[in-house]
Amino acid sequence: ANEPTNAAPADKPTGKKIVVGFAQIGAESGWRDAETASIKETFENDSNFELKFSDAQQKQENQIKAIRSFIAQKVDAIGLAPVVESGWETVLKEAKDAGIPVFLLDRSITAGHEDLYTSFIGSDFVLEGQNAAKWMLEELGADAKVNIVQLEGTVGASAANDRKKGFEEAIAGHAGYKIVYSQTGDFTRAKGKEVMEAYLKKDKNIQVVYAHNDDMALGAVQAIEEAGLKPGTDIKIIGVDGIKGAFEAISQGKMNVTIECNPLLGPQLKQAILDYKEGKELPRWIKSEEDVYFGQKAIDALPNRKY
Ligand code: AHR
Repeated sequence: ANEPTNAAPADKPTGKKIVVGFAQIGAESGWRDAETASIKETFENDSNFELKFSDAQQKQENQIKAIRSFIAQKVDAIGLAPVVESGWETVLKEAKDAGIPVFLLDRSITAGHEDLYTSFIGSDFVLEGQNAAKWMLEELGADAKVNIVQLEGTVGASAANDRKKGFEEAIAGHAGYKIVYSQTGDFTRAKGKEVMEAYLKKDKNIQVVYAHNDDMALGAVQAIEEAGLKPGTDIKIIGVDGIKGAFEAISQGKMNVTIECNPLLGPQLKQAILDYKEGKELPRWIKSEEDVYFGQKAIDALPNRKY
């Protein structure tokens, strides 16, 4: 039961399909849809694999049920995009005891439980938050007076916690930069719009919206337009993800910058599973390489965006 997590059990059968169970969060954003498509394309187009895919509709309890069902079906590997960071110990211990490797995809779990999964494949969300702040400080000037609305992702999600942390730490030394309001928009366009609408009714003295994903940023763009202001000009809009819709909004001058976050993780997950089966040592964190897009660079990149 307490085998080291990075070594493939030697007695796994060969020559038959590798069965992978994937516990997805849901379909809250364009980014999430792109991740789901990448996983399905990768495993469904390879006859060596069989994919069992579960959509938890944003509920951790559904993800836990899916993992238990994968364990009961004796899958060869489990992929998990954890909706929130905490509360995974029991079920991941069950997978470990069953000798099934778990790969965390895109979001991580609370630190200190690294023995419960094989590898984490995904982005550095703290760095994304820092990059958002860096763009803002360079664009508006380190000494400017700036009121910021922060649209946070799902409460308890590593993507929300870390993007907030990276951003807030990066502006901490700049007294003129104030987060006047910070509220969850649950990573959806509809809630991003709703939160922004409500805030604009109270106060329009905002210079920046920092949204933890592009969908919420695009929701805020709509709310700002409906309030009679110009997003991108009157209020600078920062998003994270790099979805096509954000590139289009930047081209139209309605959004200013998107911090890329790669959802096309299917091929990396497949490679990690194959490496694991060959008994190779896997990195604890397989990190995505990402860029920051604004201005002409975003306009030039738009035709080639894959998601
Ligand atoms: O975990 C990654 C985040 O989850 C993406 O930024 C967001 O769009 C998604 O829902």
